[in-house]
Amino acid sequence: MGVTIKKAAKAGAKDNIVLLVNSKTKLQEHGLTAAEERFAKKELKAAKNGAVVLNRLGSYVVIPHVKTEKEEHIQAEKFRVAGHGACKFLNKKKLTSVTVVDGTDNATNALAFTEGLALANYQFLKYFKDARERKNSLAAISLVSGATAKQVTDLKHVCEAVTEARTLVNEPWSFLNSVQISKEIQRIGKKTGFKVEVLNKKKIQALKMGGLLAVNQGSVDPPTFSIMEWKPRNAKNKKPYVLVGKGVVYDTGGLSLKPTPNSMDQMKCDMGGAATMIGTMAAIAKAKLPVHVVGLIPATDNRPGGNAYTPGDVVRMHSGITVEVLNTDAEGRMLLADALSYAKKYDPQLVFDAATLTGAAMRAFGSAGIAAMGNATDSQWSKLEASGEAVYERVIKQPFWSEYGDMIKSDIADIKNIGGPEAGHITAGKFLEHFTDYNWIHLDIAGPAFMMKEDSYRGKGGTGVGVRLLFNFFKNL
Ligand code: BES
Ligand code: ZN
Ligand code: ZN
Repeated sequence: MGVTIKKAAKAGAKDNIVLLVNSKTKLQEHGLTAAEERFAKKELKAAKNGAVVLNRLGSYVVIPHVKTEKEEHIQAEKFRVAGHGACKFLNKKKLTSVTVVDGTDNATNALAFTEGLALANYQFLKYFKDARERKNSLAAISLVSGATAKQVTDLKHVCEAVTEARTLVNEPWSFLNSVQISKEIQRIGKKTGFKVEVLNKKKIQALKMGGLLAVNQGSVDPPTFSIMEWKPRNAKNKKPYVLVGKGVVYDTGGLSLKPTPNSMDQMKCDMGGAATMIGTMAAIAKAKLPVHVVGLIPATDNRPGGNAYTPGDVVRMHSGITVEVLNTDAEGRMLLADALSYAKKYDPQLVFDAATLTGAAMRAFGSAGIAAMGNATDSQWSKLEASGEAVYERVIKQPFWSEYGDMIKSDIADIKNIGGPEAGHITAGKFLEHFTDYNWIHLDIAGPAFMMKEDSYRGKGGTGVGVRLLFNFFKNL
């Protein structure tokens, strides 16, 4: 995001100001002159969207026009989107700092606006020759509101973690291969405070992770399996939470090759689930949440190289279950399955996995929500759903009926790796269920993980979806 966020007591006389208002705000109490107030009120009435701008010759006052909503979480989202609009303006004017003043007396909205502004300021410029010229000017946000210092630092931490996740997704395979992702995890762990252990190919072989090894057979790079852990002394939970992320650093489909152009173009994003879980670990560690969490990232690319696994192969998985491979493009579930069965050793309280797993989830919900399924308790589900609304990364709980499980029965092995043409995201979930024996929620983020065109503060490219969701879930525990 390239911007710092801090709490401030009040705005300085020469600051650039974004003033958040509603119909009750008394503008003169926030430093506007009577003439400015008259002008702003008239303009706000006329404005359908956008913002009123007061040019004070040397500084600006921006008053975003935000539609009033009845539902709190929809109102907050409107403020995030307004943050994106303000970001565009501030950078166009080449301003370096801004003070956000909450004239609505509502910390939730003020935090949401600041979040939208900070996330919208994110750029991925690493590969531009003239990166410096392209860089956004905005570098500092001060927030004057009723939000507590803790709320503001938590916001800063989660925005930084989303930034890490987005950059991991945006990195092409030429940089972020299976070995590099484990190095990035170590770097981020060192920076934010969580522990990392990386299992190499030998160790993965010794553990008989047949799914991860099968997908890796067509690759020139070895697989990696990274284990992250945040275990503070004051952890409130006895049994850890486990986060599993799909780390397919590039998905060609393997021998069941994806058609190109189009469906292969964005497949550097296929480690989006890994990015989500790495980002979540980073946010938790930065905020020093009192919760014991373990993260597991199985990583490889999926290619049709020399010894690639083939349609028709039978693979013995880490758990001992055998899988008939009928489509090598259904590779994510192969490596997630091994990580999920590895997770049993932690006797977890709850396991989340996140994965850009199926085109079916993308077709069903687009980028508007996360397809979720599993067998967690009602209370765990409702907490997650509440977090989804609060941060506007909404989860849609899918039916998980046994009939969907019947669709992956195989003639020659315990299960097969694809179902039929219907409900593909649910049959994928049913496949994963075989490798769990604990409370578990599967998040299929194929829709919202990567944007082909700019989507407000989520931007273009990797979104880091799921980091804010899971951070909110753990913060509220
Ligand atoms: N990585 C893809 C899913 C995907 C599609 C992610 C679009 C992001 C955007 C996954 O590995 C895949 O190829 N799934 C197949 C499974 C099928 C062969 C059963 C799919 O969904 O088409
Ligand atoms: Zn695939
Ligand atoms: Zn994939």
